[in-house]
Amino acid sequence: MASPTPVLQVENLRKEFVRGFLRRRTVAVQGVSFSVEAGEVFGFLGPNGAGKTTTMKMLMGLIHPSAGSATILGARIGDLEAKRRIGYLPENPYFYDYLSAEEYLHMVGRIYGLDRAQRHERAGELLERLGLGMASKRAMRSYSKGMLQRVGLAQALMGDPELVVLDEPMSGLDPIGRREIRELMLDLRAAGKTVFFSTHILSDANLLCDRVGIIVKGELRDVGPLGELLSPAVHHVEVVWSGSEELRARMREEFAEGRHESSSEGEVFVVDAETSEVVQAEVDRFVAAVAGGGGSLLQVNPRRETLEELFVRDAGLRPEDQRS
Ligand SMILES: Nc1ncnc2c1ncn2[C@@H]1O[C@H](COP(=O)(O)OP(=O)(O)OP(=O)(O)O)[C@@H](O)[C@H]1O
Ligand SMILES: [Mg+2]
Repeated sequence: MASPTPVLQVENLRKEFVRGFLRRRTVAVQGVSFSVEAGEVFGFLGPNGAGKTTTMKMLMGLIHPSAGSATILGARIGDLEAKRRIGYLPENPYFYDYLSAEEYLHMVGRIYGLDRAQRHERAGELLERLGLGMASKRAMRSYSKGMLQRVGLAQALMGDPELVVLDEPMSGLDPIGRREIRELMLDLRAAGKTVFFSTHILSDANLLCDRVGIIVKGELRDVGPLGELLSPAVHHVEVVWSGSEELRARMREEFAEGRHESSSEGEVFVVDAETSEVVQAEVDRFVAAVAGGGGSLLQVNPRRETLEELFVRDAGLRPEDQRS
């Protein structure tokens, strides 16, 4: 259960890769510090190439940090005793494709030091839980991508770990599969385990995480509960309306500074928020012009910041860059 020491404590982690004859340097991760408390589901969010996998590999002792340090379950990175208490799903897990999932899990169980009865029980339970029961005796070379991803998750859980480190656990899964994995992760939390996982699927993070860390271009930009990272202020207001072609053309001209779109529900006029007073005044003016021109007002929707927008804000991109 919750202990005062964080399960994962990362201090100023840095990784530089040196490539090729010219010894070009890539700084993949720099100055990354955060901690994950016992019993948390912590999401490590970032776009492609942000440094998520590199950070996780350092934490698992698979590559050496160029600088900085970290402790996992109170031990230094790479400590073998601590590793037995951690389950890890790598980004591209490698499987012996001539083995069946059941044989493979038995092999993993042996590495974790489980006896035959324990292996049998644990493998059976996980194969059922991950929906692989029917295929568990077939060679894994006949498995689909989603099935292999599930085998990867099963092996990460084989040793009944206290901490689960999952690099893109939803990768390759369809929406139903993703929901099943989300439920599995919540069950782990309910059982008092700690989950540290990476994703760029923002809706998964939204539904799951107690806290998230957002990494962009190797640097950690934000850490905290998603609700606190999202700005509570109105981000933009959408006015949905309908009117004649002539009115539509007139409104586009008169309100050229806002965004005009057409949707299945009607014409949409979007006012981005600079300050709420200005937005409100602009919305009032627009609504009055619709009524004055004989159009109909259908909806006025104030929108708060979504996770996607936070992501874009942290990446230092403008919202326009994302829409295109
Ligand atoms: N072995 C390597 N040699 C050189 N550069 C590398 C190496 N591994 C990773 N990088 C670089 O480090 C950066 C971070 O990569 P990383 O795989 O950690 O990103 P990621 O956040 O996991 O992305 P994705 O969402 O695509 O999995 C990238 O610019 C990548 O090209
Ligand atoms: Mg990755």
